[in-house]
Amino acid sequence: MITHLAGADLYMDARGHGRPVLLVHGFPLSGELWAETAAALADRYRCLVPDLRGHGRSGATAEVSIGRFADDVMAQAEAAGETGRLVVVGLSMGGAIAFEVFRRYRERVGGLGLVCCRATAETAEGRAKREELAQVVLRRGSVAAAEAMIGNLLAPVAAESLRAKWKGIMSATPAVGVAAAARALGSRPDSLPTLAAIDVPTLVVAGERDAITPSAGMREMAGTIRGARFVEIAGAGHLPPVERPREFAAVLRGWLDGLG
Ligand code: MLT
Repeated sequence: MITHLAGADLYMDARGHGRPVLLVHGFPLSGELWAETAAALADRYRCLVPDLRGHGRSGATAEVSIGRFADDVMAQAEAAGETGRLVVVGLSMGGAIAFEVFRRYRERVGGLGLVCCRATAETAEGRAKREELAQVVLRRGSVAAAEAMIGNLLAPVAAESLRAKWKGIMSATPAVGVAAAARALGSRPDSLPTLAAIDVPTLVVAGERDAITPSAGMREMAGTIRGARFVEIAGAGHLPPVERPREFAAVLRGWLDGLG
């Protein structure tokens, strides 16, 4: 379904029936990240899978922020009829968005799934690199971001076909959307203070071979969230939902089923 919000037509796929689960992808990916996850959950959960502003089938705007993304996905969920509590699952930039959803829509969040992400704000050096990437992408196209990222995104053991698929998806993302999201990541809020405030069931999932958000940091983050469950997916890099789809879906489903 398409929802028009703040200057863009935004796409979201809604699949299955039951407790709503919002699945938020990372940078500069698309809802395709969750295709196998949603298929595995759909008999018992209503999976809401947005393409973030400027990604996938959603329109782009020249500027965006983590707060804008959070408002977008919650408005998209509401447009799909979900006005009650949701479980929010985010991967990488999607995790930063999940933290923001928790801060802005606390009463709407029934659980958090934090996948391969970090709570820290960007460093000054990191912010400069994001700005540099934004400028290169606006000059050369999104293929520049795809080339810069693909090496670290998947574990070395990942199939060439998977690498080619995600390089293609990133390259096809509109440059204006990638540049805006790179800048949004550069200015993402510090979510460290949020960790101690999280009072909903939380699942933290890491990829054993993740080169972008290493598993050790994810484990440490989980240790600071009250009652969080930590799971490491063997052999996965930064994208467990596509690198180890069955294992990832089983972990998420096991946790969701336990929420009662
Ligand atoms: C993501 O998956 O959202 C990105 O890898 C985030 C990042 O570049 O830090």
